[in-house]
Parts: sequence; C-alpha cells; structure tokens
Amino acid sequence: MTARRRKRVAVLISGRGSNMAALMEAGKRPDCPYEIVAVISNRPDAKGLETAQAASIATAVVDHKAFDSRAAFEEVLHETLLSFGAELVACAGFMRIMTAGFVQRWEGRMLNIHPSLLPLFRGLHTHRRALEAGVRVHGATVHFVTAELDGGPIIIQGAVPVLPDDDEDALAARVLRVEHRIYPAALWQVAAGACRLKGGRAIMNGWPFDEEARLIAPVANIPLS
Ligand code: GRF
Repeated sequence: MTARRRKRVAVLISGRGSNMAALMEAGKRPDCPYEIVAVISNRPDAKGLETAQAASIATAVVDHKAFDSRAAFEEVLHETLLSFGAELVACAGFMRIMTAGFVQRWEGRMLNIHPSLLPLFRGLHTHRRALEAGVRVHGATVHFVTAELDGGPIIIQGAVPVLPDDDEDALAARVLRVEHRIYPAALWQVAAGACRLKGGRAIMNGWPFDEEARLIAPVANIPLS
C-alpha cells in the first residue's frame, strides 16, 4: 500500500467496547488505512473508556442525560467529533438513536455494527429473537448508518451456525467473535476507499473474499484490497 495519510476515525460507544478494542487493534497495523483518534461515549461509566485510555487514545463523554433534546445532544456530539478531526465515525455498541439530520451530516462516513444478519432482527435482543425464530444461521452485519434504524446499506456480514444447545449467551459469544473480525475489515475497506456509499448501496471495488467464503461468511483476513 502506498503511504497515504490514514483516515481519522472516532469510535462511539456506550458500554463494554470490545468492538472498539478490535478496531484499535487493527488500527495499530502499519498498513492500516485508518487510525483511531478518539473514543466518545454517551455514558460516563462506559467500560470501553478505560480500555481506550489505557491505550492512550483520547476519550470524551457527551452525556445524553445532560441535554433537553436529542438535537442538542447531537449538536455537541458533532462538535466533539469535529474537534478530534474525525473523518469517519464507527458506532460500536452506541445505544442512541440518531436523528436524520445528524446522520445526514455523516452520510457515507458513519458505520455501525449490528449483531444479526440484517435485515433480520433489527433492534434489540437479537440473539434471543434468533433462538426464538429457530434460525440455523445467525451473525453480524456492518453497515453504513442511515436514518432508518439498522437499515443502512450492508458492507460486510459474518455468519455463524446456531447450535442445538445454544442459549443466548453462547450464541452472543459466537457472534461477537465474528463481529471482532468483520468490523475492522469493513472499516479498513471504507478508510482505504475500497468501499463507499453510492445510490443507497455499499459499493466495493472488487471483492476481497474467496469464492467459498462469499457464500456464507465473508469475514476474511484483514488486508482486503
Ligand atoms: C455488540 O454486540 C454490537 O454488535 C452491538 O452492541 C454490542 C456492543 O458490544 N451493537 P461491545 O461494546 O463492542 O463489546
């Protein structure tokens, strides 16, 4: 890869931050086209803030409870993102619904990870609902964020089997391992300019995965283009 400037990424979290940590880990690679420059939480007690601080990454809290309206919260969030020079935003367990106005400001530059194979199981409790539905295959999706909740164009999905003895925790843990692989892969693609939002679709320059994986689990290894 040529020595292009790395894209500045801010990660939005609300809790544990294991996806954030996976993004940070890939970001350390010398060939990675992005760097994590900040981690912003809407909850002051988010565990992920400690992880980011331990890795010497700048953190900020924009506590939604301190604002009267969603728009006021988002205004400060937007300013905070700009103050870090963020070019891309990665939502990683960020538990706030965003207004269309905010989403539009970051159109094509904001990603999210959702723990299901979208468009199945939008919203919460995806693993429980997958078990209830009796699906045999479950997984996770990285998508561009649009105003439609969990409805934006899909960048990468990773699939896992649902096993007979699975409970919610076992299934969640299996999906999470896939999340930690597909999120850096997707962000890598977008930061490298190999994937972009166009006409309501996530367009890839070529396809980085092998024929077999294309069918079920394009989680792949990171360099992708
Ligand atoms: C993940 O399962 C993610 O898909 C969902 O929330 C969870 C966050 O986990 N949006 P973590 O904070 O990244 O560990």
